[in-house]
Amino acid sequence: MKIILIGFMGSGKTAVARCLGCVLQLEVFDTDAIVLKETGLSNMEEVFARGGELFLREMELMIAKKLAARGNCVIATGGGMVQNKIVLDYLRQQQGIVYFLNCPFELCKSRVQVQDARPLFKNYEAAEHLYDLRLPLYMNYADEIVNVDGKTVVEIAEEIAYGQ
Ligand code: S3P
Repeated sequence: MKIILIGFMGSGKTAVARCLGCVLQLEVFDTDAIVLKETGLSNMEEVFARGGELFLREMELMIAKKLAARGNCVIATGGGMVQNKIVLDYLRQQQGIVYFLNCPFELCKSRVQVQDARPLFKNYEAAEHLYDLRLPLYMNYADEIVNVDGKTVVEIAEEIAYGQ
């Protein structure tokens, strides 16, 4: 079973992936964490400072390529990975199933703290615009849509693991 979690910043991908890894005894990959490990940087602000958004997107493509061969794992993606179809094509290899964590913008906003070092969530108006632009992409790539509003991390993970 290969589970790929997509969704906007603050939708809970990292927390749900960790929980799923425990529930299903699967290895968990977090693409943001891999970016930081591979670059030796400590947060996304530093990644953007190094080479802008383009640098991050190139790293994400490289990581998706590496994860393509992996089966049986859970992958928490960075919120912008849906911007490149090829990234999703790589991730889906080995029977990957894509779950979209559908989270209203206001809930994402309430979870993402300004000090979280998310360069694309500094300006709330711009972030909301990005959310609106990306929503159709998340919907398009989703094999399954999981509405997360009002649910705990464990409930979401169990819904993905065992169905509703
Ligand atoms: C981004 C989302 C972030 C991180 C980077 C860019 C985006 O990941 O990859 O700051 O473009 O939506 P999370 O979705 O895990 O916050």
